[in-house]
Amino acid sequence: MIIIAKTIKEVRAAVKQWRREGHSVGLVPTMGYLHEGHQSLVERAAAENDRVVVSIFVNPMQFGPKEDLASYPRDLERDSEMCEEKGAHLIFHPEPGEMYEEGFCSFVDMTGLTEELCGLSRPTHFWGVCTVVSKLFNIIQADKAYFGEKDAQQLAVICRMVKDLNIDVEVIGCPIVREVDGLAKSSRNTYLSKEERQAALCLSQAVAIGRKMAEDGEKSADAILDAMKARIETEPLARIDYVKMVSAETMQQIETVTGSVLCALAVFIGQTRLIDNFITIQPSAESQHNFPRSLREKRR
Ligand code: PAJ
Repeated sequence: MIIIAKTIKEVRAAVKQWRREGHSVGLVPTMGYLHEGHQSLVERAAAENDRVVVSIFVNPMQFGPKEDLASYPRDLERDSEMCEEKGAHLIFHPEPGEMYEEGFCSFVDMTGLTEELCGLSRPTHFWGVCTVVSKLFNIIQADKAYFGEKDAQQLAVICRMVKDLNIDVEVIGCPIVREVDGLAKSSRNTYLSKEERQAALCLSQAVAIGRKMAEDGEKSADAILDAMKARIETEPLARIDYVKMVSAETMQQIETVTGSVLCALAVFIGQTRLIDNFITIQPSAESQHNFPRSLREKRR
């Protein structure tokens, strides 16, 4: 049976015991309501570590005041089965008060990388992500931690934080898992009505259009972005938050596609904000960028 630990004390005791037994430990941080995207991370962690901790914590700090914290879907029982099925050993499921005790006033903030893309429309989001992920790293002290490329900016931010703060964990990026028709899997897809679910395909279809243009050698970021936006704008239910091309190292906007480039988009389908992305990497710049090895190998 998978262990459910609700306190920091319990999870630390379990990890200490595993360490005494000589086991390696992998961590998969999540906010729960798991799907096959999360499961792919758990599966990879189970393949590469003796013991796997999945954290399930809807982190209040990373939600803005008008965002979906209260309505974010939760189902611990189903999540536990999904974790167990993929070989996880322990779920860390703290209450907000366990993570943020009364008087909590220490935060991890980052400039630069967090100011573009999602950071523009969600100004406090990465502050909450960096704080909670560094707390999880400190609590669990895993050898490896697994994150999805679906949240490409988050992955880049965490890689940078680990480097800057000398955190002793190896960050592993894992490819985006999609529905059969291309929509990137997301816990927020459950918010979509039938019509919205259909309209949401404009994200992955825009990604396919942009990726093909980049692979065919188009160098103008504007030409690629215009074609992607044109596809999204055919959907009456879609409202673009951003569609941008940035340097994968600095997250700053670029005009010409050279080196490792992240093309990322966020689109509202009705009230639901969805994200998707692709990365193009030119071999010449490969040695310079910050992304984990998996990204370099898969996107080539
Ligand atoms: P959450 O949205 O639950 O995602 C947990 C992890 O699953 C993230 O690393 C995310 O990139 C990955 N993931 C989500 N959908 C995926 C998909 N379709 N394919 C592959 N991976 C996918 O991201 C968070 O939670 C939080 O910000 C967290 C890091 C847990 C901090 O609170």
